[in-house]
Amino acid sequence: MGERIENHIILDCKPAGQKIQITVDGKKIPAYDGEPILSALLAAGIKINRYTVKRHEPRGLFCGIGQCTDCAMVVDGIPNVRTCITPAHDGMVVETQDGLSKEVRHDS
Ligand code: FES
Repeated sequence: MGERIENHIILDCKPAGQKIQITVDGKKIPAYDGEPILSALLAAGIKINRYTVKRHEPRGLFCGIGQCTDCAMVVDGIPNVRTCITPAHDGMVVETQDGLSKEVRHDS
């Protein structure tokens, strides 16, 4: 289920931060303090971050560098947070987003 790489022949894959918990759509999942929220989501098998406005199609990891908004979610009540570049912290509340808020709605 999880997609976290724990051992790699070349790269050091040990997470830098302390083990924490975040809540995603009401469910607690493990994460590491400071890792991108999206890393914790993928490790927990969560691949859908938001749905488009017009067709209600699922979106998830695309660019991974904060450019496309496909990973946008509501984080601690704030919409349009790009989870691929936003660090996780203990107790964070993350929700799947339905569309984009008016400020960035241009591609949905
Ligand atoms: S995956 Fe493109 S902004 Fe996060």
